[in-house]
Amino acid sequence: MYGADSVNDDDSERTAFRKAEKKYRLYYDHSTKSSKRKKQPRPVDLSEVIDFKSVLDSFNRNNELPPGISVLQRDFNQPVFCLENRPGFYFIPGVLSIEEQCQWIKESLTSFPQPPNRTNHNAIYGPIHDLFIAAKERKVFVEEESLSTGLDCNSNFPSGDVNASRWKFSEGSDVLSRGDTRKSVSATVLLRKLRWSTLGLQFEWSKRNYDVSLPHNKIPHGLCQLAKKMAAPAMPLGEEFQPEAAIVNYFGLGDTLGGHLDDMEADWSKPIVSMSLGCKAIFLLGGKSRQDTPFAIFLRSGDVVLMAGEARECFHGVPRIFTDEENAEIIHLEQQFSCEDDLCFLEYIRNSRININIRQVF
Ligand code: SIN
Repeated sequence: MYGADSVNDDDSERTAFRKAEKKYRLYYDHSTKSSKRKKQPRPVDLSEVIDFKSVLDSFNRNNELPPGISVLQRDFNQPVFCLENRPGFYFIPGVLSIEEQCQWIKESLTSFPQPPNRTNHNAIYGPIHDLFIAAKERKVFVEEESLSTGLDCNSNFPSGDVNASRWKFSEGSDVLSRGDTRKSVSATVLLRKLRWSTLGLQFEWSKRNYDVSLPHNKIPHGLCQLAKKMAAPAMPLGEEFQPEAAIVNYFGLGDTLGGHLDDMEADWSKPIVSMSLGCKAIFLLGGKSRQDTPFAIFLRSGDVVLMAGEARECFHGVPRIFTDEENAEIIHLEQQFSCEDDLCFLEYIRNSRININIRQVF
């Protein structure tokens, strides 16, 4: 599902979805004149990307909507937009307050990747505690020599996590000063390579289903309440959304999320509630076949997307995030994260995007 850095050219043209992914993803133009010159992102034509922020502005100003876009006639505290050709898809621009955005960015980096929640790092390193603090303190994750042989790899760790507990954080200077030959990786690199964490019922990526036998904590109360409120416009009348699992996706420069379906939940009449935080991105919303030409849509920090019903059968993905000052559109976060204690969050989010998508599994 996660994008590789290069797309095979033959493949990239094979379906309409791949063609769109290729159109929007980040490529660099390498200057032939001087290898020292900074590589420049290749300009991309964004004229066909739907911008719901502008749609909201003009709707608020003069009640006008572009062709193909309608507003949901349901009681909610701000307009919820729909695409007439994609029933079950809802877009709520800028609905999360700045405080909410900052709160969930912080939680996504500190508490959400904490065990028993799993992350993409589990398979290699086992559970990692306090990665964000370790990165802030410039620590180094080191494979413990004494434990690297004879460890009972089968103890206590879910399948696929057999290397657990051989790795420990050390002061960076300790590792360097001793001319240490143990395997090591800096916490900053691990944080940059954090691609997902899972909350609530744990998703088993290799089997593409939920493994209810894995240890897990419930979705945090505050996130549950927020998801229930956001899900309401897409819920069958009289029912309340029950958040049971969430996947948190982390994107750095050049990271992508390939076209996929989220189809492992039992009841597709319930929406997936998907929140965007940090740098602006392009979202591709295809149809039921990869041959259907996808809509390209901007996602900004604070936007919420709901996908329910027929939209659950639509391929979707994220081919691009924008980290440059002009296009990332995170100035409000820069202001909010300006105090000394929050600079570590700012440093991360300046070049990153986080998506929290919350699901009712049963
Ligand atoms: C997803 O489709 O799973 C995430 C979409 C996003 O990152 O906005």
